[in-house]
Amino acid sequence: MQIVNLKAHLSRSLLCASLAALALTCTPALAAGAYTPPSRARQLAIGYCGVCHGVNGNSKNPMFPRLAGQKAWYIEQQLKEFRNHTRRDPYAVSYMWGMANGLSNSTIDALAKYFSRQKPAGGTSHATAEVAEGNQIFHHGIPSQGVPACAACHGPDALGNANFPRLAGQHAQYIRKQLASFRSDMRDVAIMHAICTTLHVKQDRAVADYLASLSQPPLVTGVTVADNAGGAVVSMTHHHGR
Ligand code: HEC
Ligand code: HEC
Repeated sequence: MQIVNLKAHLSRSLLCASLAALALTCTPALAAGAYTPPSRARQLAIGYCGVCHGVNGNSKNPMFPRLAGQKAWYIEQQLKEFRNHTRRDPYAVSYMWGMANGLSNSTIDALAKYFSRQKPAGGTSHATAEVAEGNQIFHHGIPSQGVPACAACHGPDALGNANFPRLAGQHAQYIRKQLASFRSDMRDVAIMHAICTTLHVKQDRAVADYLASLSQPPLVTGVTVADNAGGAVVSMTHHHGR
């Protein structure tokens, strides 16, 4: 289904109607405490979340974040933040509050596991000046502005870890939007707010372009150059030894 069509047809009332239908068709699975089997999560992911996020979590439309390979704990945490309304920028409110509203903890857990186990499609590498600048910012920060290296938390390959989300291969547009939301505190996270207030919008763009360019699995952490046909990555700096 084309997302463009979807956007045109999915009015908020329709969203509510489909949410109601979902609640009706899976009441047992959504009941508090009831175990949600992986098969049920898969069904929901494909029939429901996948409409926007892609059935394997590799959305094509940059408005919808990619979930494939994202850390399960992070997906879980975000779904709970949509459900309890602590993540509240306008897209979160209009798209995800309704989605998360009817999900039980066990369904959230099962959905998080499902998406975290999907293979990330990987980004499209390209060698632009922005990507090179973003690479620099990601790995070394901007000492003159007091911006720390993103890699210090998000990991050297932006794959995330037990405390920080994966960023590799995410849509650049989505990343820029999140940085703006952290900056304005519409998405209220103290650590990222502090970082984003010192980062310039042009630098948002550079680091977002870099992250979106990362392929999976990342072969290198240096400046990457893709051959247009296969997307093979060639190192211009060093291998990271992993
Ligand atoms: C109608 C489209 C739509 C559907 C259906 C949808 N989402 Fe979303 N989702 C969004 C949008 C848009 C965002 C980004 C919100 C923002 O910009 O802050 C999002 C964000 C998220 C995030 C945060 C990702 C991150 O990197 O922080 C998670 C997790 C998520 N959705 C999970 C789900 C799950 C699980 C389902 C199914 C129960 C689902 N979504 C259904 C549109 C949708
Ligand atoms: C001190 C640790 C730390 C550093 C350094 C850091 N981050 Fe983060 N970042 C976090 C945490 C924690 C979150 C999760 C926020 C939440 O709970 O919603 C996050 C979330 C994000 C997200 C949202 C991901 C999503 O899927 O919605 C983006 C984008 C991001 N960081 C980009 C960056 C960039 C770019 C840099 C470097 C300029 C950076 N971060 C440096 C801790 C850090």
